[in-house]
Amino acid sequence: MTEVKDYIRTIPDFPHEGILFRDVTTLFASPRGFRMAIDQLLHPYSGMRFDKVVGLEARGFILGGAVAHQLSAGFVPIRKKGKLPAATIGQAYQLEYGEAEVEIHDDAIEPGEKILLVDDLLATGGTAEAGVKLIEKLGGEVIGCAFIVDLPDLGGRAKLESLDMDVHALCV
Ligand code: PRP
Ligand code: ADE
Repeated sequence: MTEVKDYIRTIPDFPHEGILFRDVTTLFASPRGFRMAIDQLLHPYSGMRFDKVVGLEARGFILGGAVAHQLSAGFVPIRKKGKLPAATIGQAYQLEYGEAEVEIHDDAIEPGEKILLVDDLLATGGTAEAGVKLIEKLGGEVIGCAFIVDLPDLGGRAKLESLDMDVHALCV
């Protein structure tokens, strides 16, 4: 039986030599794979109420939109620096292969709102940690962090768990 991980393709040396890039576009392109991924992302949160799903650019938008719809929650994007049009707060972070900064609109989350953070992949955890910090700066409560892929050797899960985050991933 085909599982979520079977729909993910691996591209060696992208975007830099030595990186094994886990390409989820093949999962998203499969009607069965995409539905399975969304259903499995939602599974641990059955019966729970979320105000908003926060998606991390870029593939977290695709997943986060579908997840938010299923939860009847709002959707909030965290974007790379300079992309959001209104007032933002920002957070710099380290990537597996570089440095970056992400931003969120400063009015996107109300204090006390319950948030599910969604992205396609957890590597070093730098991106997700930056997302958690932005949500918490606005007073949101991160109830869970959900990913399709966890690359545990890169330490992302440990980093998020050290921040007391609940981490859910479909494939390791
Ligand atoms: C990838 C992935 C995560 C992040 C994970 O995004 O989609 O957002 O890296 O890495 P980390 O756990 O080490 O922070 P990428 O930075 O390639 O950006 P993109 O989605 O805009 O292509
Ligand atoms: N982001 C960081 N590391 C990655 C990897 N190995 N595959 C896909 N996205 C990534």
